[in-house]
Amino acid sequence: MKTALISGITGQDGSYLAEFLLANGYAVHGIVRRTSSFNTDRIDHLYADPHVPSRLHLHYGDLASAARLRHLMEVIQPDEIYNLGAQSHVRVSFDEAEYTADVVATGTLRLLEAFRDYSKQSGSQPRFYQASSSEMFGASPPPQTENTPFYPRSPYACSKVAAHWYSVNFREAYNLFVSSGILFNHESPRRGETFVTRKITRALGRIRMGLQDKLYLGNLDSRRDWGHAADFVRAMWMMLQHSVPETFVVATGESYSVREFLDVASEYAEVDWRKHVEFDARYLRPTEVDSLCGDSSKARQLLGWKPEIGFRDLVKSMVDGDIELARQELTLAGAGHTVSRRGGVYG
Ligand code: NAP
Ligand code: GDD
Repeated sequence: MKTALISGITGQDGSYLAEFLLANGYAVHGIVRRTSSFNTDRIDHLYADPHVPSRLHLHYGDLASAARLRHLMEVIQPDEIYNLGAQSHVRVSFDEAEYTADVVATGTLRLLEAFRDYSKQSGSQPRFYQASSSEMFGASPPPQTENTPFYPRSPYACSKVAAHWYSVNFREAYNLFVSSGILFNHESPRRGETFVTRKITRALGRIRMGLQDKLYLGNLDSRRDWGHAADFVRAMWMMLQHSVPETFVVATGESYSVREFLDVASEYAEVDWRKHVEFDARYLRPTEVDSLCGDSSKARQLLGWKPEIGFRDLVKSMVDGDIELARQELTLAGAGHTVSRRGGVYG
């Protein structure tokens, strides 16, 4: 049985990747950061009772703590490491720049050093996946490939560029199997509620159920290449099964504006978004990434990867999920329970 270690297992991608690896017979170990509220909602269905034997194991840990990462590497002895942990919100990174750099850039370096030393001491040849991002291309125009220059436009993107180059350097300097996946935006019903797609579908569900009236958004003109997270975590795994470590772009090759996303989602939700959406400058970024559309020919040819879920099916699954969630909220409200306002500081 192969053993995988995932940082960021409680996030959108971590939950889909854990499902995928468990279904493929792996023992899966996840690093969970300690928070004052429960943060395991997305994986609770995989981990019903910690007292029942399971192939899923959770450990407290943080990308801020090198000692803990080293310890986990030594006791878990993973065959594959997936580094998905991050402060992953671009707008938030402008406010929390230093913290974002610490977790996203230096956190990756901490995990890579633990990985390098564990590889040497154990004599094994484990494999490392780095979650790089299309945000690294920033202002470089589409279509973006592995050869497109990076032009990061946010502290998050700068940190991801550093983490990417740390990964490439560890591959070359120490002859380690480190692959970097430059993934374009990928969404799902489990997407965090402050990212634009989920913010939209969550609001449409609530508007349809009469729980909300307004949706405040920023720039509707930016374009993104949106795929489904379940397809994209498969590409992560395929990279680690490939014969050599490399850098791969993973994308659908189609791009839509935020406004077009609103159009399609509203059609499914049967809500006229123009009656409900208002502009709020707080959701603008000091420097925006206008247009992302990836060319993933390399991954398609060398890995045999291709997305299976198209844009409309992705949007529909998110709208369906959020209408159901709003229906549950309405039932609770009808039974006299307080329905909380959705969203965090940027929600
Ligand atoms: P996400 O939903 O925001 O999940 C991020 C994960 O990182 C969560 O499990 C979070 O824990 C964890 N984390 C945050 N700070 C941490 C710390 N200090 N130490 C350890 N773990 C920490 O992000 P995602 O969408 O699944 O994305 C996964 C990775 O791919 C991220 O690195 C992201 O930057 C990158 N990426 C995402 C996309 C995309 O479109 N989704 C595209 C390209 C690259 P909590 O649950 O406790 O917050
Ligand atoms: N979040 C958010 N909230 N974005 C908005 C809003 C709003 O109210 N209104 C407009 N937008 C626009 C943003 O300005 C951006 O151009 C676009 O919607 C997408 O924003 P996000 O959904 O926050 O995603 P992102 O593209 O900035 O970053 C995501 O994708 C990256 C890959 O390209 C994140 O998942 C990153 O972690 C990931 O690396």
